[in-house]
Amino acid sequence: MQALRTLLLFIFCLICCVNSENILAIFHFPCKSHHILGSTLLKALARRGHQITMVSPFPFRTQVENYTDIEITGMLEYKEKNIVPKFINAHTLSMYDKMTFSIKNSKEVIELFLNTPNVKALLNSNKKYDLVILNWAMNEALLGIAHHFRAPVIVFSSIGSSQLTNKITRNPAPYSYIPNLFSIYPDDMTFFQRLNNAFWSLTFDIVDRFVNENVQEEILKKFFPNAPPLQELIDNVSLVLLNSHYGIESPRPYVPNMIEIGGFHVEESKELKGELKEFLDKATEGFIFFSLGTNVKSSHLPEEKLAEIVKTFKNLPVKVLWKFEEHFQNLPKNVMVNEWLPQTDVLAHPNIKAFVTHGGRLSTTEAIHYGVPLIGIPFFSDQEYNIADGVNKEYGVKVDFTTLSVETLGNAINEVLNNPKYGENAKRRSKVLRDTPLKALDNAIFWVEYAMRHHGATHLQTAAYKLSAYQLLLLDVVGLVLGIVIFFSAVVYFTISYIYRMFKPKSKKKSKTS
Ligand SMILES: *[C@@H]1O[C@H](CO)[C@@H](O)[C@H](O)[C@H]1NC(C)=O
Ligand SMILES: *[C@@H]1O[C@H](CO)[C@@H](O)[C@H](O)[C@H]1NC(C)=O
Repeated sequence: MQALRTLLLFIFCLICCVNSENILAIFHFPCKSHHILGSTLLKALARRGHQITMVSPFPFRTQVENYTDIEITGMLEYKEKNIVPKFINAHTLSMYDKMTFSIKNSKEVIELFLNTPNVKALLNSNKKYDLVILNWAMNEALLGIAHHFRAPVIVFSSIGSSQLTNKITRNPAPYSYIPNLFSIYPDDMTFFQRLNNAFWSLTFDIVDRFVNENVQEEILKKFFPNAPPLQELIDNVSLVLLNSHYGIESPRPYVPNMIEIGGFHVEESKELKGELKEFLDKATEGFIFFSLGTNVKSSHLPEEKLAEIVKTFKNLPVKVLWKFEEHFQNLPKNVMVNEWLPQTDVLAHPNIKAFVTHGGRLSTTEAIHYGVPLIGIPFFSDQEYNIADGVNKEYGVKVDFTTLSVETLGNAINEVLNNPKYGENAKRRSKVLRDTPLKALDNAIFWVEYAMRHHGATHLQTAAYKLSAYQLLLLDVVGLVLGIVIFFSAVVYFTISYIYRMFKPKSKKKSKTS
């Protein structure tokens, strides 16, 4: 009885004792997947009674209660012109080109964002916010917004942790087993992969510190002239929410102000409808689902690659569901094409055998959630790493887009269809991802409200915040120890050579004169 009363009281508190707060969310980056993640979290917070203002290029068409959209105009046009055409060849760029490409694009995106009339109006309004949630994609300068509103800020990382988030919280991430942002290796690296990773991780850190942060500091000065130096704003970040989980990627160390919420966006699957349902229900021999995400458009795929893909599908012993913007004349009988498909509901279908994907974080998370093995064709950013991890843990196979052909794609799909280990491993990962003390979305909500309850959460910061880079790396300690070793070695050396000289020359002279 007592237990029941406590439980009821607890549930009552969960429902009723929520202070309604004003939350400002900045999801400026013109990437649909970032907005799906952000809006899922913010809609959940709106249902808790918080008042949400969401700034993004993707306003909802229908009204959501307690949730106001502010549209960033011009951003999607910028993306179509400057980012999308590059995506298709991004996997051929060198690591250095990927870095400079990202820095340049991020700068242009931020300036476009801060010059948007709606954003200017927001900054000139007298609105009060209790919290700012900021999407993180090389946009340190936008911390100026939180400073402008004198509000605590939570950073949200769509791709999980990387060097860009680790630097905020001084999270330990050794180059020996944590791959860099653009890595094509999993966490489990051979000697030469570690050598490569160490070199590029260090290069990335240096370029980020001396190129990106300088660019950001300039933007900050220009748009927020009263803001303190960038580093101070970075140090004032309350929490980092990471769209990752050890069910999706290999386990990594995290300091207490980094919170893993990966999997939170996956909604309960619903039953499919109409033609699609019929096609998949009748696929008793199984079907594969093919989708390259929201960034790689069919119109950007070269003709010859398209022909290879269609030919591969035709030869398969299973049906194929293809998310694609165009419709063909001579589509093979076993293939169904649709521009819009409910991805999670398709992945939850019992007849699915495999998912051919670009390897973005949302797609791989949803596939793992439903225990579906992958065939990955990665293009950019974390996609390479996500697929490398799938290959390493044997729930996926990788196909290089450059060498994609009837043979390579066909072999990869048949391998996954015929070897049961991929499906079994995917099911195992699914259990790991779902077996958590709190549902990922509830965990995310808890930490967001926690940051507001404590007006920031600087008490979670480790003492590493007080150390400079050389102290953090113990270079001062190593220096002192080396100094002592060198000093005593020198003392011993000179003492011995002094003693040696005292005796040796005499004996030499003696031997000469005698
Ligand atoms: C909107 O917020 C109010 C409190 O601010 C709350 O009572 C109401 O239930 C919320 N609406 C929805 C749809 O959750
Ligand atoms: C640091 O964060 C607190 C809330 O967490 C905020 O009140 C304060 O204005 C911030 N300081 C700076 C310099 O932005």
